[in-house]
Amino acid sequence: MGVSRGGFSSRFGFIMAAAGSAVGLGNIWGFPTQTASNGGAAFVLVYLVLAFCLAYPAFMAELLIGRYGQANAVSSMQKIARNTGQKRFGFVVGFGGIICAALILSFYSIIAGWMMSYAIEPLARLAGFTGEADWLINHSLTRNIIFTALFMGLTIFIIRRGVEEGIEKWSKRLMPMLIGLLILLIIYVFTLDGSREGFNAYLNPDISRVFEPDLLISALGQAFFSLSLGTSVMIIYGSYIAKKENLVTLGAQVTLIDVSIAFLAGLLIIPAMYVAQAQGVAIFAEDGSLISGSNLVFTVLPALFSGMGKVGLFVAFGFFVLMSIAALTSSISMLEGPVSFVVERHDTPREKATTLIGLAILVLSILIVINLDWMLDFVATLSTQYGQPIIAMLCCVFAGWIWHRSDVLSEIKQGNIDVEHSLFWKVWPWYTKFICPTAIGLVFWHSL
Ligand code: PFF
Repeated sequence: MGVSRGGFSSRFGFIMAAAGSAVGLGNIWGFPTQTASNGGAAFVLVYLVLAFCLAYPAFMAELLIGRYGQANAVSSMQKIARNTGQKRFGFVVGFGGIICAALILSFYSIIAGWMMSYAIEPLARLAGFTGEADWLINHSLTRNIIFTALFMGLTIFIIRRGVEEGIEKWSKRLMPMLIGLLILLIIYVFTLDGSREGFNAYLNPDISRVFEPDLLISALGQAFFSLSLGTSVMIIYGSYIAKKENLVTLGAQVTLIDVSIAFLAGLLIIPAMYVAQAQGVAIFAEDGSLISGSNLVFTVLPALFSGMGKVGLFVAFGFFVLMSIAALTSSISMLEGPVSFVVERHDTPREKATTLIGLAILVLSILIVINLDWMLDFVATLSTQYGQPIIAMLCCVFAGWIWHRSDVLSEIKQGNIDVEHSLFWKVWPWYTKFICPTAIGLVFWHSL
């Protein structure tokens, strides 16, 4: 482990990077559509409660393991372990998370590639390249391969530069752009006919649905995906935070940003759908539910944009750039998990490790692109519905049952000297020990 690790140079840098990982397609696309199909504001309400009461404690467990270990996910877990059995368990959890991150990246980069091609399309149309513009939004094999490779190239480019010059610098640039773009788009959509109806649909809670098991399960799954749990990402980001920082507040700030951006994305997408309806676009599926999934992003919204004439080209550009940025700040975190492991455990130079791992994941992505009809769903289900909850649950088990309470306390106390007397310390250890593993286990069991 003779390699210098680097780390975040500032608190703001960490917040932007961790929020960048958390805020992704899951917030801007997943959250609004889940809200639409789960009783509108009732889902938002449940999501807010679960994100803070269940996802945040699990998120803290991962950050703390990483900051204590000051190393990649596997080494950090093994540092806590006290005997061979525990060390093996630590290896399985840490390495499982790394594999999970790599699998997520393999399909996420395909979808992100689509976002990039949809972002370039309005520019091509504006410049008069109609044929090229049509090609960009036509889901052909060549286009899919080229744009997946382009997106992966960008991810590799950033991760090769390391923590401070790569992850931190780019997150600090991209995240404020993302928030600015999101707010501008919301303001614009609100000036259009039909948006008020969407606003009401989004914010009027159907309280009777709050305790529906399906709604609770979807909200918890969404919260875990959104905070990038169970993927080794938050362990590795935790390992780059200075010991003087107060992790309890930093973790809460990142959770708050993640939840707020998901909420804001709902304020954009749902009203935009109703604006599309006012312009004659069908927004309800045959069973009466709001259209969601890829039809929403690649059919309903583009139909809305094209109905706006020339302005629509700019709005489409803004929207798909927003999606691409959100995806990029998440994908870099997914690549950092495996890269940090190889760099630190196998003494490989960062540039070389990044390129090799990035290319290996790209090969898997291309395989998925070639077998898009079954493989995309398969890898997504395997990694997000099985991998993430299992690994996140095991991380809580590790922090709650294997890590000594006094050692956990001395780790949290660094940067937060009075934490022993805080509400956090009264509640969190019990949560990670009992409540979080049980709740995640329930979600997992139900999703089977
Ligand atoms: N949190 C990201 C999103 O909401 O889109 C997805 C994600 C990022 C999942 C990083 C897993 C991960 F390791």
